[in-house]
Amino acid sequence: MRHPDVPRGQFITFEGGEGTGKSTQIRHAATYLRSQDIPILLLREPGGTPEGEAMRTLWKHSSSERAWEPLAEAFLLFAARRMLWCREIQPHLTQGTWVLCDRFYDSTLVYQGVLGGADIEKLMKMKTLALEENEPDITLLFDLSPNTAMKRIAQRNPNCQNIADYYDSMSIKKHEKIRQAYLRLAKIFTFRIRIIKARASEAVVQQSVRQVLDDLLSRVKRPT
Ligand code: TMP
Repeated sequence: MRHPDVPRGQFITFEGGEGTGKSTQIRHAATYLRSQDIPILLLREPGGTPEGEAMRTLWKHSSSERAWEPLAEAFLLFAARRMLWCREIQPHLTQGTWVLCDRFYDSTLVYQGVLGGADIEKLMKMKTLALEENEPDITLLFDLSPNTAMKRIAQRNPNCQNIADYYDSMSIKKHEKIRQAYLRLAKIFTFRIRIIKARASEAVVQQSVRQVLDDLLSRVKRPT
């Protein structure tokens, strides 16, 4: 139970294609918010609970010949997401902790929906069943051209000719589809999605993220 004087925490999600730098920036954001005396919980999806991490292993390492059917994948992801919401996100927000999550349900709309071909309306129904009307307060969308993103992935893995990770080895065309799908979501969910231009240096992108966080900090009640 939340003490009546403790303001609810903020739920911030980080989204974007691979190699856009979101996972680096989420760590910088956590450090910055902690320096502002904000209690932070850092999560990633899929994962974040023992059940979610087990699901991540099961799903990410399935063979490409026997990949999950997209709607079945979405059921798995939403089951793990519901666990994450009930066991981690909701209780922490109630206690006044700010929750930063690397990916959330926008990823399912983009990867299983637009990319995988699962029906978006069905995915939104699953979203409502799993999360009810709950939404992130803010979503930072890291937007970067797939060519630049792929170069970054290659730099990150200099000794790896054949990047084994199924997703990182997707073609540029698929990455472009992911990028455009995210940009369409940003037009639909204007109330929560903020686009971060991720082409700039790490420090400049960090600054853009900070601006969004400062804006949020100036609007919400902070823990005392
Ligand atoms: P990441 O650890 O690089 O964020 O990789 C997670 C991968 O999982 C990424 O390729 C996107 C994918 N994914 C989905 O396909 N659907 C989802 O709902 C989520 C959260 C991730």
